[in-house]
Amino acid sequence: MTKLRAAITGIGAYVPEYVLNNEELSRMVDTSDEWIMTRVGIKERRILKTPGAGSSDLGAAAIQQLLEKTGTNPEDIDLLICATVTPDHPFPATSAIICDKTNLKNAFAFDLNAGCSGFLFAINTASQFIEAGNYKKIIVVGAEKMSTITDYTDRTTCPLFGDGAGAVLLEPNTEDLGIIDSILHTDGAGRQYLYMKAGGSVHPSSKATVENREHFIHQEGQPVFKAAVSRMADVSAEMMEKHNLTADDLAWLVPHQANLRIIDATAKRMGLDPSKVMINIERYGNTTSATLPLCLWEWESKLKKGDNIILATFGAGFTWGSIYLKWAYDGDKI
Ligand code: UT7
Repeated sequence: MTKLRAAITGIGAYVPEYVLNNEELSRMVDTSDEWIMTRVGIKERRILKTPGAGSSDLGAAAIQQLLEKTGTNPEDIDLLICATVTPDHPFPATSAIICDKTNLKNAFAFDLNAGCSGFLFAINTASQFIEAGNYKKIIVVGAEKMSTITDYTDRTTCPLFGDGAGAVLLEPNTEDLGIIDSILHTDGAGRQYLYMKAGGSVHPSSKATVENREHFIHQEGQPVFKAAVSRMADVSAEMMEKHNLTADDLAWLVPHQANLRIIDATAKRMGLDPSKVMINIERYGNTTSATLPLCLWEWESKLKKGDNIILATFGAGFTWGSIYLKWAYDGDKI
C-alpha cells in the first residue's frame, strides 16, 4: 500500500512594513552595524507598529495570502496550529483568534510553544494527523510579534529579534513526496539560558516585575550559542546519515535564522555548499517561529518537485530538531 505522507502544498507570509535598521538601533543602545553584522549577520528587522495589532494579525495576513495563492476555501481547513511564543493573550489561544479573523469556520485550532523550534514541531504534529488519514487540509502558521518582548535598552538582545509570520498548507500525498522523517528533541535543563522571567504562574506580573524589566527576553548568549551550534549541526548530520543522503543529494538546507555563524557551522558540518542554504537573517533577524516559513516563502520560486530539503532549528527550552522532506510542487509555476 502506498504510504500517505503530509506534503506542503502552498506558502504565504507577511512581514510588517516598518524597517528597524542597525543605524537606528545604534542610536537606541551602545552598539554598531559592524558589531551586529560580524557577530550575528543582521542588517535590519521588521517591526509591527500598528496600535492594537498582535501576532494574530501577522498570522492572519500570512494565512490570507496562503488561501488566495492556493485557491483554498477557508471553510475546507480542518485544523490550524499556530506556533508562537508571543501569543496575543495568555489565553485564549492565538490560533482561535486567527480562525476568527480568517474565517476558518470548520477548523479546530491550538497553539504550540517550542521556542524557535515551534514551526518545526508544529509541522511534525500536523503531519501525524494527515498520515493517520484523519484530516486533509491543515495550516501551520508561525506568527511572532517579538518586538513586544524585546528590551530595547538591552544591547545584548535587542539587535537579534524581528516580527513576522509565515504559513504553510499541508495535504495528503501518495507520490512519496512530503515529510519523510523528523528528529525532535527537548532538554529543559537549558531553560535558564533563554526565557522570560515573569508574567507566568511562577512570577506573576507585578509592579516589581515590571520595574525589574522581567517581561522581556532574557538570554545568556554564549551557552545558547554553544548548544545551538552543536545540536543543530548534529541533528542535521544525523538526518543525512539516517537516510544515506550526501551533500549532493540535498537541494536545500532551511535553517533557523538566529545567528549567521550558527547557520554556517551547520552547513559546514553537513558539507553543504553555501548556495544551497536559505539565509535571510540579514533582512528579518530572528523571527522565532516564523524563520523557516519566511525562508520557504522567499525561495518558493526556486523549489522543484522532488527536491530533498532538510529543515533544522534550535531554540528556547532547549528545543531542537530536523525534518527531512521531499518538496511536492514546482515553485516557479505558482
Ligand atoms: O533563536 C533562539 C536561539 N538563540 C540563539 O541561537 C542565539 C545564540 N547566541 C548568539 O547568537 C550570540 O551569543 C549573541 C549574538 C547573542 C552574542 O554574540 P557573542 O559573540 O556570543 O557575544 P558575547 O555575548 O560573548 O559578547 C561579546 C562582547 C561583550 O563585551 P566584553 O564583555 O567582551 O567587553 C558584550 O558586552 O560583545 C559585547 N556586546 C555588544 N557589543 C556591541 C554584546 N552585545 C553587543 C552589541 N553591540 N549589541
